[in-house]
Amino acid sequence: MADFINWGILGTGSIARTFAKGLSDSRTGRLVAVGSRTRESADRFGEQFSVEKRHGSYEALLADPDVQAVYVSTPHPMHAEWAIKAARAGKHVLCEKPLTIHYPEAMAVAEAARENGVFLMEAFMYRCHPQTAKLVELIHEKAIGDVRIISANFSFQAGFNAESRLFDPALGGGGILDVGCYCTSMARLIAGAATGQPFADPVQVSGAAHLGESGVDEYAVASLKFPGEVVAQLATGVRVNQENSVWIYGTEGRIFVPSPWFCGPTDGAVKLILQRNGEDQKEVVIESDRSLYAYEADAFAEGVRTGQTPHPAMSPEDTLGNMLALDKWRSAIGLKYPQDTMEGQTHTASGERLKPHRGQERMKYGSVQGVEKPVSKIVMGTMLEGAVNPVTAASALFDDFIERGGNCFDTAYIYGGGNSEKIFGNWVEKRGIRDQVVVIAKGAHTPYCTPEWLTKQFMETLDRLRMDFADIYLMHRDNLEVPVGEFVEAMNEHVRAGRMKAFGGSNWSLERVQAANEYAESKGLAGFSAISNNFSLARMVNPIWGGCIAASDPESRAWLTRTQLPNFSWSSQARGFFVRGNPDDRSDGELVHAWYSEENFERKRRAEELARKKGTQPITIAAAYVLHQPFPVHALIGPRTLSEMRTSFEALDVELSPEEARWLNLEA
Ligand SMILES: NC(=O)c1ccc[n+]([C@@H]2O[C@H](COP(=O)([O-])OP(=O)(O)OC[C@H]3O[C@@H](n4cnc5c(N)ncnc54)[C@H](OP(=O)(O)O)[C@@H]3O)[C@@H](O)[C@H]2O)c1
Repeated sequence: MADFINWGILGTGSIARTFAKGLSDSRTGRLVAVGSRTRESADRFGEQFSVEKRHGSYEALLADPDVQAVYVSTPHPMHAEWAIKAARAGKHVLCEKPLTIHYPEAMAVAEAARENGVFLMEAFMYRCHPQTAKLVELIHEKAIGDVRIISANFSFQAGFNAESRLFDPALGGGGILDVGCYCTSMARLIAGAATGQPFADPVQVSGAAHLGESGVDEYAVASLKFPGEVVAQLATGVRVNQENSVWIYGTEGRIFVPSPWFCGPTDGAVKLILQRNGEDQKEVVIESDRSLYAYEADAFAEGVRTGQTPHPAMSPEDTLGNMLALDKWRSAIGLKYPQDTMEGQTHTASGERLKPHRGQERMKYGSVQGVEKPVSKIVMGTMLEGAVNPVTAASALFDDFIERGGNCFDTAYIYGGGNSEKIFGNWVEKRGIRDQVVVIAKGAHTPYCTPEWLTKQFMETLDRLRMDFADIYLMHRDNLEVPVGEFVEAMNEHVRAGRMKAFGGSNWSLERVQAANEYAESKGLAGFSAISNNFSLARMVNPIWGGCIAASDPESRAWLTRTQLPNFSWSSQARGFFVRGNPDDRSDGELVHAWYSEENFERKRRAEELARKKGTQPITIAAAYVLHQPFPVHALIGPRTLSEMRTSFEALDVELSPEEARWLNLEA
């Protein structure tokens, strides 16, 4: 057991009271402080629970040096802000469920905890009770054979009250986030145990719901499909009573959990009912010696002590999977909160203004002729169509990118059918940082690659971005039927009108770029300031998409070295070749087609060897290679999660000598 932990409770509502009572029964915790938005409420709470220090603001609680761990018990939408601020204040964080209102914010909280070296746990108290551990043990022992169907319900009937957090969309109301999150977390735990994992994430989520007069899910159901032939059915609600239980059906029997969430009765023995096919049902008795919330505080203390979440309590990875499942469930029933919309992107997850260079990031910058701002060497892609909600994903990812010192974003007319430009433009506007970011706009993709379409699409791009200029405009493709001078003339017109600061071409042959610049020089016009062709350690052996061009061959590299024209390299990490590339695995057709060659596998082998020496990953070595060239390269990245963002940035910390770079590329 851990040494004693000094707790501070943040928020004085109903669950805060329950937790305060539970703490008094824990073996590891003592309540030393409480923080409320009002002094009166802090005092009242302090009186009732004999808390010595009573703070009239949450900030004061976080500044209290006597507090080691903070219990965040506000309504859901405020969890992210106070959990992040607590982590930044160096406090360990136990945060009420759901960790945040949506998955992208949850990623921000998990990163904040990691970055500040504090322990984070989502307060699913039932996960800390011995009943849940016993359940996992029974599944591991195959007490009911192989798990097939999990059925989990958590639902209650509250009287409608538009003001209450249960019904207010702005406070994340409805059943799914309030209690449906227990059902997803249980199904994921059992499906994981069934396949020998700490948890499993569903590969399919569908749902149906009744959205009530305030627009929140008054009751909802979901069907989940997991790897390992396991499925789950979940039911939740805030306006209907159900039998709040869990059934697990397997090939050789079933388990009934009469009190899965509160693990009742409150003290003494708890029972699970096990029925093996063809046998009498058996009671499995679990002794408990503390209250439910005392178990939670003690599991948390163990996590603080060991740095590991004691399974089956909620680890941050488990929480992220659960939050994603909840986003998918809400998406399946069409439930959107104000925080999910473009209009709702008013603030960062922490509620604080963006702080470029939040951590120790060593961003490097280059310059592009015509652009006054320095341009970050790592460039963020803006196509997030794979996300459950690209709007909220964009806010979390772009905020993090800025805080890591990035400032350059790659957009395109065709990304997301125009949605990507709108989402990105909205985010820039909401953050008020237009003067800090370098925006790459792209357009005139085949078959619209003519000067007329270029202008037409570009004007629409500016409209979608809600910007009056792009820092860098790149033609997305070339059209060899159009004399190069016509494109140069069209783009110079936009430069003169102030609508673009610099321009260039993506997937242009270097001969055509050369011709464009010779034309420009002969006419006293601006020429190409940049290109955007693929450049990576692995050589693209076949184009990934029609008309796309790489600049990784020796002639291109010699040309780039001579001209020093910046290249904004897309697929700079060869689309996962350095992670998934394996001559025996041909399951990813695109990867095989574009990157599989003997030479590339040798480059990958060398990247692995160097990665071992330098204590990093092969993909990080591949990214560092791109940034260590005798010509300017900016690497485009497309992380989907904040942990992918973090690892992409690690390339900045890897030093490669020119000899090492040449060796990686089989030149020595
Ligand atoms: N694990 C469990 O068993 C369990 C059970 C119930 C609820 N919960 C979770 O705990 C959280 C709080 O639920 P609750 O039922 O305790 O809520 P509650 O009774 O409404 O209390 C929430 C408290 O948060 C603070 N707060 C801060 N901003 C607020 C705002 N804009 N509106 C209302 N309150 C605000 C208030 O404390 P101050 O006035 O002191 O600042 C308030 O008393 C929810 O996320 C919920 O999911 C967990």
